[in-house]
Amino acid sequence: MNKKTVRDIDPQGKRVFVRVDFNVPLADSKITDDIRIRAALPTLKDLLDRGAALIVASHLGRPKGKVVPELSLKPVAARLEELLDRPVRMLSDCVGPEVEAAVKAMPPGEVVMLENLRFHAEEEKVDEGFAKQLASLADIYVNDAFGAAHRAHASTAVMAKYLPAVAGLLVEKETEMLNRVLESPERPFVAILGGVKAKIGVLENLAKKVDTLIIGGGMAYTFLKAQGKEIGGSVLDEENLDLAKRILEQAGAGKPKILLPVDVLVTTPEGVEFKPSIKRVEGAPIEVVSSDAIRADRMGVDIGPETRRLFADEIKGAQRVVWNGPMGIFEIPEFAEGTHAVAEAVAAVEGLTVIGGGDSAAAIEQMGFSERVTHICTGGGASLEFLEGKELPGIAALEDR
Ligand code: 3PG
Ligand code: MG
Repeated sequence: MNKKTVRDIDPQGKRVFVRVDFNVPLADSKITDDIRIRAALPTLKDLLDRGAALIVASHLGRPKGKVVPELSLKPVAARLEELLDRPVRMLSDCVGPEVEAAVKAMPPGEVVMLENLRFHAEEEKVDEGFAKQLASLADIYVNDAFGAAHRAHASTAVMAKYLPAVAGLLVEKETEMLNRVLESPERPFVAILGGVKAKIGVLENLAKKVDTLIIGGGMAYTFLKAQGKEIGGSVLDEENLDLAKRILEQAGAGKPKILLPVDVLVTTPEGVEFKPSIKRVEGAPIEVVSSDAIRADRMGVDIGPETRRLFADEIKGAQRVVWNGPMGIFEIPEFAEGTHAVAEAVAAVEGLTVIGGGDSAAAIEQMGFSERVTHICTGGGASLEFLEGKELPGIAALEDR
């Protein structure tokens, strides 16, 4: 990475503001997955070991500038306390006199957690005064919030102006892994993309680098449609239909090879309930059909068995894999087999395997393959923008090496 990191600073006796992404899933105020908290521990422990006092700050959910008690970081502070095995003092806000008083006399080794940054609209409005106020709490700014690095917000992209500003170890590791998977010489290089939206920017950037592009999940239907096929009630990213056509035309010239589903699992559009939570409507039909034969009254929900074999065979021969997005509605067990088959095939690859965050990370964890891949990103949106070749504002703002 061309940015300074915590290795380049001496935090002894300093108050260090660490922006983390502790935007963790909660159910009834209970954390259901603490990976993002654990992923920040190396940075936090390193700074504490070297005599810093820590001001830890994050957003949680999308409270839109209002205090939403259910989105308090209190349960997160409690979990951090357990993981760090030392007290973490939860403050009631992230700016203001109480916070200023609390951080003023922090001795080395003390840890405070600020309340949800997004309780203030200024955070997302990228308010300079707010960024300055946050910066005034500390001597050094560390950004370790990889999952929020694609957001240009006050605490991610502006505070760096007012303090010595370096990357944390998680941000360093994530960018190194993503760079490695994009730039290493090992071939064949296979990219697997799924999920609902046609990730056109990512596709365009990866198409230049990979040997094979495997397209599954919701976005595959936009490509099937671009080939002139009936997709019934399957998800369509209308806006990107022309771009999908263009990518297919380019692939017609041979590089990269593009694999699309040859068969799919379908149900009726009424066969899946998305709200309040995703579930299959009992009794709804499940059929395997050729991707040439999707009926107008059907909706694709997973790749079919032949496609599972096709994709797995291709992945098996890879030396380098990047995967982002599930192959189907994997939250529903009946529609998870495609994602499972891909996860299993990726886990069996000997070479470098990097999993983008979000749903594919959740899937690989849920399916028990986490230990068998090289790296799982902690940021879905952030890793996607990175794969698109974009510079992430949270990283761009930091000091160059
Ligand atoms: C995430 O979980 O995607 C990050 O924490 C960023 O959150 P956001 O999408 O609400 O900006
Ligand atoms: Mg997001």
